[in-house]
Amino acid sequence: MNKEEKLHLINEIFTPSAPIENINLFSGRDIQLKSIKETILEKGQHAVMYGNRGVGKTSLSNMVSFMFEDIITIKVTCNRNDDFKTIWERALKKVKFGYPIKQVGYKAEEKMEVFPIQVPDLEQISPTEIENTLFNINENMVFIFDEFDIIKNPKIKAQMADIIKLLSDNLPFITIILVGIAESVEDLFGQHPSVERCIKQIELPLMGNKEAKKILNRNLKLLSLKIDDEISEKIIELSSGFPNYVHLLCKYSSEKAVSENKTKINIEHFNYAVKRSIDNSDHSIKKSYSIATKSSTKTNRFANVLLACALANTDEYNSFSSVEVIEKYNKITGELNKTESLNYNLGMLCKKERAEILSKEGKQKSRYKFRKPLLKAFIKLKQHDFTVK
Ligand SMILES: Nc1ncnc2c1ncn2[C@@H]1O[C@H](COP(=O)(O)OP(=O)(O)O)[C@@H](O)[C@H]1O
Ligand SMILES: [Mg+2]
Repeated sequence: MNKEEKLHLINEIFTPSAPIENINLFSGRDIQLKSIKETILEKGQHAVMYGNRGVGKTSLSNMVSFMFEDIITIKVTCNRNDDFKTIWERALKKVKFGYPIKQVGYKAEEKMEVFPIQVPDLEQISPTEIENTLFNINENMVFIFDEFDIIKNPKIKAQMADIIKLLSDNLPFITIILVGIAESVEDLFGQHPSVERCIKQIELPLMGNKEAKKILNRNLKLLSLKIDDEISEKIIELSSGFPNYVHLLCKYSSEKAVSENKTKINIEHFNYAVKRSIDNSDHSIKKSYSIATKSSTKTNRFANVLLACALANTDEYNSFSSVEVIEKYNKITGELNKTESLNYNLGMLCKKERAEILSKEGKQKSRYKFRKPLLKAFIKLKQHDFTVK
């Protein structure tokens, strides 16, 4: 592979701003892939897949179409103006079913004639009408509704629950998978006791180090690029479980190495990649950070408090206590502060003036959480960049 080809390949395999579509570039997530397979195979079972922004929900749902040869997969991305009717209209328009028609004459070949599904031409469509439409198709199908978190109207959620119930009871070979940013199923879908039994909850947590490392190792191998263990571990650590940061850091490190005709990524390439990854982070992340840390003094207390938050040990719900924060804060600054001394800063970081970067969990115990968990990775990148300056 020459240099041009390598640079081209880098852009094909490291896709920080696009979900994975190619199964060969998809890493890890074995447990969740298995859960989805089981859901599809179990008659009358449906699923809600939820997790943070950027953990890989869309990528995972793109893998569904590779799972079974004889199952049609239809994916719809919900948008702000959608209602029950428009969501299903878009879904049904994508269903094309065909049956063979005999040609007359010599060398008659069987041809498929393809028909789009007729969507009922009504002002409102009810769950029963959708059921009736699907009844005529009689095929194994999976409908995926991505970015379902954008649907706020409880009526639409209730209609979705109704259609799930109807399909479970009457058309068990159809599976619905709702996908979106949320901390729980109720958060995404509301509470619908009548369908709880037929919905599998699939949480997509942050990526584990092993999974993240798979992305890095496999893709660098494709480029015949080497990397020191120390640097690859640093990439995994700074990425904080967010695969898009693995992609960002690997993309820019590789680009730099290849453009210098090197076959190994070195620390300078990595430091350059950190800078580029900061620049290329989401606008909303950069903005929140700058509001939260604005300061008129040289020693920026808020920036250090945030760094301490990003480094603090978290529980399974990604929350951390003020005790953990002070411990890290003292380590960073070399000071000996008491826990209470950061209460003001932590409190302020929950307020609008500081971009509501944190939220407080629970009343009595002071536990906090990043509202946008991607910030954790961003803050660590900033810190790394600061230390190499
Ligand atoms: N399993 C995976 N293997 C490799 N890269 C992944 C994987 N999951 C996600 N990514 C990458 O992470 C980023 C975010 O993925 P995406 O599916 O868009 O997340 P979400 O839909 O949860 O916001 C993208 O750059 C994507 O290429
Ligand atoms: Mg997505």
